[in-house]
Amino acid sequence: MPALINPSILSADFANLERDLQAISTADYAHVDVMDNHFVPNLTLGLPVFERLTQISPVPVDGHLMIADPDRWAPAYAEAGAASVTFHAEAAQAPVRLARELRRLGARAGVALRPATPVEPFLDLLSEVDMILVMTVEPGFGGQSFIEGTLAKIRRARRAIGESGLDVHLQVDGGVSRSTIERAAEAGANVFVAGSAVYGADDVAGEIETLRAMASRHVH
Ligand code: DX5
Ligand code: ZN
Repeated sequence: MPALINPSILSADFANLERDLQAISTADYAHVDVMDNHFVPNLTLGLPVFERLTQISPVPVDGHLMIADPDRWAPAYAEAGAASVTFHAEAAQAPVRLARELRRLGARAGVALRPATPVEPFLDLLSEVDMILVMTVEPGFGGQSFIEGTLAKIRRARRAIGESGLDVHLQVDGGVSRSTIERAAEAGANVFVAGSAVYGADDVAGEIETLRAMASRHVH
């Protein structure tokens, strides 16, 4: 199974988002981080910009909502054209109801877990989601170093997904680069978000290809 590479435009030039989306046209999805200055101590972009990005992106948009009260705000990101909408478990009041609503609106539904949030409460609910995002840094900023302690959670999630027989994606986000992607893939991730590793490279398309090849050796 090929690994999916989703570059994060958090590391793009915010004055040249259209150009920088074109630069990742060989990626699988464009990862768009929405931060509200409440759930995380950083502010990026909101619905009007997000909607325009879904219209001009050469690849489907993978929205990562680091926002408070996703039960209220996340469905609009599905309506805005995101192929996938991921909300945080710590912020959602009714994650299953929200995931069902996102799917009803035609998006894939993802649930994200901060490094200290256990995956176990979701393992009996795998049929309700399309993706689990194991954060491999504390959300909020690009360029942080990969937290090795999250690998065990990735392994447990992959084992449960395998036992379920369901086609649930397992995404990692934060500190993913040439030096960490193989360990994440070996632990069971199959979708890889990379911001600084991709946009910091001299050859963006080449870096996407290199990361995909490195991860694909371990994804099965
Ligand atoms: C961080 C964001 C990430 C970020 C990753 O909270 O969710 O998507 O862009 O950046 P890197 O790949 O530089 O760690
Ligand atoms: Zn993200």
